[in-house]
Amino acid sequence: MAIKKTEKIWHNGKLIPWDEAQIHVMSHVVNYGSSVFEGVRCYAQPNGPAIFRAQEHAKRLLQSAKIYRIECPFTAEELVEAMVDLVKTNKTWPCYIRPLILRGYGEAGVNPFNSPTETYIANYEWGKYLAAAAGHGSGGEDQGVDVCVSSWTRLAPNTMPAMSKAGANYMNSQLIKMEAILNGYAEGIALDVNGYVSEGSGENLFIVRHGKLVTPPLGNSVLPGITRDSVLHLANEMKIPIAETMIPREMLYVADEVFFTGTAAEITPIRSVDKITVANGNAGPITKALQKEFYGIVRGTAPDRHHWLTPVPVEKKQPVGV
Ligand SMILES: Cc1ncc(COP(=O)(O)O)c(C=O)c1O
Repeated sequence: MAIKKTEKIWHNGKLIPWDEAQIHVMSHVVNYGSSVFEGVRCYAQPNGPAIFRAQEHAKRLLQSAKIYRIECPFTAEELVEAMVDLVKTNKTWPCYIRPLILRGYGEAGVNPFNSPTETYIANYEWGKYLAAAAGHGSGGEDQGVDVCVSSWTRLAPNTMPAMSKAGANYMNSQLIKMEAILNGYAEGIALDVNGYVSEGSGENLFIVRHGKLVTPPLGNSVLPGITRDSVLHLANEMKIPIAETMIPREMLYVADEVFFTGTAAEITPIRSVDKITVANGNAGPITKALQKEFYGIVRGTAPDRHHWLTPVPVEKKQPVGV
């Protein structure tokens, strides 16, 4: 998907033209991967655009930075305000919002302390993430995707902190994703260093077995996903039994349902793993029930009873730029 540029990018508190949001090749981040970022969705609702769980994304961004001792001068509230301002200014929604904190141009060498911190937020149009080519699964709400277990292991504990959504972690994700694509799959599932299921290259993973919803705990090198948290909330409300527990690889093959969650993937059913069909290959009843609740809230057809949405005040209510 090519990035479709919008008018402005938010930089350190100011809106600047898209083309002026540039950094030097000798910036610390380019050489050493020192960035943390977020991926946030702004949905088109009947009353206009609304950002999904903006506060939680802003908080996770600041926590990702904290883990790496990156100081960001903005509060979560200020970052939320900036996201709202940006969507309003660029008049583009539904969209993807990309807040980013990076170590800029300062000193040479690994020591990051003397490189300045830059905070950017961009937004742009974005459609279905796992809408794969025919044969890999459609990525549609009902039809699942075909995935593999990656030969690449997820970040081991005490190496690269998986709880921080750091740019450098996505070198591991790229290996997982490239291998999956080259082998004809829509996505790869990585195991953790002990061989237990961790997550996809950019999604958390859930299985359903004997009526119970199971997802790996944070100790299995997973990102504390905001969609994961939303699904756990919804399942709890719907009285679906939940367990955050280790999942052996072979459980993927005998599970009744398997699905990914993520800002980009939303709730995407998995149709097969390593060419072994999940149940009968169709999205299962618990996946569908969770999708119904989730999509109802984000699309504005069900009440936002958890206050997960931040409305963006705009003059024209219909989606723009799509
Ligand atoms: C590695 C990884 N795991 C999980 C997720 C899902 O997290 P969220 O639901 O907050 O988007 C993402 C996407 O941000 C991710 O990149």
